[in-house]
Amino acid sequence: MSVVALVPAAGRGERLGYGMPKALVPVNGVPLLTRAVQGLFASGQVQHVVIAAPPSDVDLVHTATASLAPAGGAVHVLSGGAERTDSVRLALEHALSVIPDTSIVLVHDAARAFTPPQVIADVVAAVRDGHDAVIPVLPVADTIKQVDEVGVVVSTPDRAGLRVVQTPQGFRAETLKAAYCSGIAATDDAGLVEKNGGKVHTVPGHAHAMKITTPFDLAVAEALFAGEQA
Ligand code: CTP
Ligand code: MG
Repeated sequence: MSVVALVPAAGRGERLGYGMPKALVPVNGVPLLTRAVQGLFASGQVQHVVIAAPPSDVDLVHTATASLAPAGGAVHVLSGGAERTDSVRLALEHALSVIPDTSIVLVHDAARAFTPPQVIADVVAAVRDGHDAVIPVLPVADTIKQVDEVGVVVSTPDRAGLRVVQTPQGFRAETLKAAYCSGIAATDDAGLVEKNGGKVHTVPGHAHAMKITTPFDLAVAEALFAGEQA
């Protein structure tokens, strides 16, 4: 029974504005995608990684990541789709067709390159414990307002009941397959499961699992990891 991680990495990184796909942007010399894949394998729980790569860089990504898999595992690389959800769908179809004993599927953004391996292991453990869908979350630090189309505040949801969602999101393979086959649209994978009638369990996330989106985020990552061994 394999644990397979799907890694959407095909985005253009427009908000980062680095002049190359975000997954290939280096921090302390190591690309975000390489770090994300290393973290997945370092959890000790993942055997296969399926990367949805930028269409222009499939060969480059394959060369850069092939050697990261442990014995008995593998890295698979395919060309990603137009939207994140297309990339995940393509990676899921690939996983289900070429890795026959896939029992648990993680979906993990390349942009969350610094996610601690323990968070990844915790998500897998919760799925193994019987939860169909599992997401890492953090409490919300800021007050959140709901506003109307002209920016006037409509309501203030109770912060105590709100969470920020990270990845990897973990699923029983059948659960994620059913959600993707349903034709439902959602902004994250657990959202698909939720809209498909499934229950989504939460585990504690970690500040280091932040998504690198803007130049500010990259500066934070560079500062945090400046002292690491290259
Ligand atoms: N992603 C993907 N395929 C797409 C779009 C996004 O695989 N067509 C991936 C990104 O590579 C990233 C993750 O989904 O790892 C989250 O997306 P986001 O942070 O929005 O990355 P980008 O789309 O690259 O950034 P931007 O929206 O600023 O262009
Ligand atoms: Mg995007």
